[in-house]
Amino acid sequence: MVRLNRRQFTRGLLGAAASAGLPGISRAAETPGLVAQTGAVQLAPAGFPKTEIWGYAGAVPGPPIRVDQGARIARRFLNRLPQASSVHWHGVRLDNAMDGVAGLTQEAVAPDDAFLYDFAVPDAGTFWYHSHNRSWEQMARGLYGALIVDEAEGAPVADRDDVLLLDDWRLDNAAQIADDFGALHDWAHAGRLGNWITVNGDGAWSAEAARFSRLRLRLINAANARNFSLEARGLEGWVVALDGMPLATPQPLGRLALAPAQRADLIVDVTANDGGEAFLVSFERDGGYAIATFAVAGSARATRLPAPLPLPANPVPELGPLDAALRVDLLMEGGAMGGLRGAMMDGRMTDMRALAAAGKVWAFNGMADMPERPLLEAGRGETIRLAMINDTAWPHAMHLHGHHFRRIAADGAPGPLRDTLLVARGETAEIAFVAGNPGDWLLHCHMLEHAAGGMMTWLRVT
Ligand code: C2O
Ligand code: CU
Repeated sequence: MVRLNRRQFTRGLLGAAASAGLPGISRAAETPGLVAQTGAVQLAPAGFPKTEIWGYAGAVPGPPIRVDQGARIARRFLNRLPQASSVHWHGVRLDNAMDGVAGLTQEAVAPDDAFLYDFAVPDAGTFWYHSHNRSWEQMARGLYGALIVDEAEGAPVADRDDVLLLDDWRLDNAAQIADDFGALHDWAHAGRLGNWITVNGDGAWSAEAARFSRLRLRLINAANARNFSLEARGLEGWVVALDGMPLATPQPLGRLALAPAQRADLIVDVTANDGGEAFLVSFERDGGYAIATFAVAGSARATRLPAPLPLPANPVPELGPLDAALRVDLLMEGGAMGGLRGAMMDGRMTDMRALAAAGKVWAFNGMADMPERPLLEAGRGETIRLAMINDTAWPHAMHLHGHHFRRIAADGAPGPLRDTLLVARGETAEIAFVAGNPGDWLLHCHMLEHAAGGMMTWLRVT
């Protein structure tokens, strides 16, 4: 037994608080922690028990991280879960070693181990962080949070700035997370869909807002697989950014499709009457549900503010000439009603039965597991044109790590910058982007069961 003098004891305690008992006390004491741990949250209505979750700081969502554009984010991730884990900073154009992809950019962090994430954020906007190991289970248990980067200048006028993290949970009758994570039916169909929708971990999220007040709403779809289809009632305004990237021209808000991992920044004015309510409505199979409610109290001003200016653009490199770009195809196959007969797994041609037995039901370019070799190799600064051919009966939310891309329309016109694109069944979507930072970058479906079931590849920037 080691005896500590008082000074050592105090230092030890401080170190323990900041780094939860890990070595490297002086450094760790300066770096805030991000602890993945179990918790209990009232997801279901009052009267139901709390739900046991896995969350950052034991909460759902995890603590919001908010910094100024250009700043650094440093967090000592500590894993207090019974499973290995890692943290991915979705949509941030960061140093590859900080991307948090277990098995590609780092080893998964074992239970009771830690990892120091430390990176600069070049872009302002709405991003998020989430687990990137067994994410189909870990995110369904609640391991996600918002990462907001404030504009260095030119932030829009708003009376409120709300982050709304949308999720759907599969809860059993006791309001606990159903632990049927590997269910092959989910993997081969739409992914794990839930039966209980929350906003910021609340099944009935609400706030107060004055009539004619202006709200900035930052929507983040944190669900494993659900595509949200949203409309506003008593709120009128614009979509000003998608996936963290400002639109060159704000678009009037109508029906908004939000696939898994996608974000949308809205600027809306409360037009409902004083004493009334304004809503965000999610359209499900059986009708529309208010998932966020603003109780209108008082008036902020006599009339609506003028239309907002576009948000200032982020410093994303411009595309080079598209006809000189490196062209690559990605054939997406498999799933229920897909007719996939076999694919490569473990370096061998494998029939569908054996694939399914191993949980592989999808394939990218004929490969059902993460390929040894990258889909493509590009030099930094090179422009890449990637055609994603969805030869399946399902839509897929395709996400490229570390980059934002533009969809190229049939007439060659580039669309807005995104990091996640919903590719409809049977559709071919061509995207173009500039190979940014050197490193190995994942490209996968963000319907997490699809990713684990074979829809995952990577590219290398040298
Ligand atoms: Cu949101 Cu591969 O991640
Ligand atoms: Cu998919």
